[in-house]
Amino acid sequence: MDPGGSNGTTFEIPPNLDLGFMGDETPRPHGPLTAHGRIATQMTSHPTRMDAVQTPIIPTIGGLIRATPGTISLGQGVAHYGPPPAATEAVARALSEKSTHEYQPGAGLPQLIDRLAAKLAAVNRIDVKRGQALMVTAGANMAFCHAVQAITVPGDEIILNVPYYFNHDMAIGIAGCVTVPVATDAAYQPRVEALRAAITSRTRAIVTVTPNNPTGAVYGEAVLRAIDALCRERGIFHICDETYEYFTYAPARHFSAGSIDGAQDHTISIYSLSKAYGFAGWRIGYMAYPARLAGAMMKIQDTVLICPPVVSQIAAGAALDVGRAYCEPFVRGLAEVREMVLSQLSTLAPRVKVPVADGAFYCFVKLDTAQDAMAIAERLIREHRVAVLPGMTFGVTDGCYLRVAYGALQKATVAEGMGRLVRGLREIL
Ligand SMILES: Cc1ncc(COP(=O)(O)O)c(C=O)c1O
Repeated sequence: MDPGGSNGTTFEIPPNLDLGFMGDETPRPHGPLTAHGRIATQMTSHPTRMDAVQTPIIPTIGGLIRATPGTISLGQGVAHYGPPPAATEAVARALSEKSTHEYQPGAGLPQLIDRLAAKLAAVNRIDVKRGQALMVTAGANMAFCHAVQAITVPGDEIILNVPYYFNHDMAIGIAGCVTVPVATDAAYQPRVEALRAAITSRTRAIVTVTPNNPTGAVYGEAVLRAIDALCRERGIFHICDETYEYFTYAPARHFSAGSIDGAQDHTISIYSLSKAYGFAGWRIGYMAYPARLAGAMMKIQDTVLICPPVVSQIAAGAALDVGRAYCEPFVRGLAEVREMVLSQLSTLAPRVKVPVADGAFYCFVKLDTAQDAMAIAERLIREHRVAVLPGMTFGVTDGCYLRVAYGALQKATVAEGMGRLVRGLREIL
């Protein structure tokens, strides 16, 4: 490989040179002009870590949906409501401030960090003053990427409970690390002894996501305490993704492992405003993490983001002032939608099993068939105009599973979508 020519020199590109675009604007493979006056094309075939990273499923399903107009999507995991008006009003006021348009501190605006510390103390019982630091990121996904890079070298292992959230698996691959999948039990609860058995000398963390995407399972306090103790005992990190912390349906209750005595030195607690505050496009998440990782975290943040978008942080501060009360009526509405989804799916028993799903806005159904889940998902879109996601996206390799997401739509639309799903599955199975 010699992309820069024998002496590595590159030239200014002459203005009249064909830059590699055909008449139809299809880009041709191209590379830098070399010392020999040729375009180097070898770069395009060089293997990279991305080759081993799964392709995100949402755009693939999105393409199928666009090709079948009128499809109802029970695919993407988004909330159906927007941000509190106080958030957009605060942004309007801040637009005339010079500081809104300048770089600000990398970890986040000090006033937002203070608000987040107060929220963590009041809601999650996490006292960041006890050895933890806080960082605001452009969403929880970025916090997870930062965390993985801050605690690993390439080749290290991270344990994910399966089914897993696909972006976690992707982030681990992007960091040059290895996902070690460990199956959950029939109720999608983690199996502590199986997690223990999966730990090797390369393991750096166990990840828990509760309430869970894609299963909707809410992990019990006892199991979270056992996993956190295991991580402490084995000197590894416990990464807790709590994106759906407010989305639980009675009697389930959310528990933050970061609140456990002694958890502060090895527990990384990740949160998002995307779902609770209808904030997905503003890209604000945050994490509380062991303060000794601050140097590493700041190197990543400074290189990738420099500082979280200031205008979004201003919106986030105002949303946090409104607080959890903002999403409570929406969560109550989702509880009704969930009842309807579960009762519709129960009509397909015993060919379709729906384990307990008392959190987030997902359920992960097991189909009694040897057919391929992606093939079923495609047929559901093409023949029945309803979209769900296939189980293999979430790391499930044995059996046929589909994820149903019911957060993005109004109740009547979900009802119509569920009708199509039930009719479709009756025909396909
Ligand atoms: C478990 C989980 N973590 C993180 C995210 C992404 O959150 P954010 O929008 O804050 O990056 C999602 C989004 O679906 C999720 O399901």
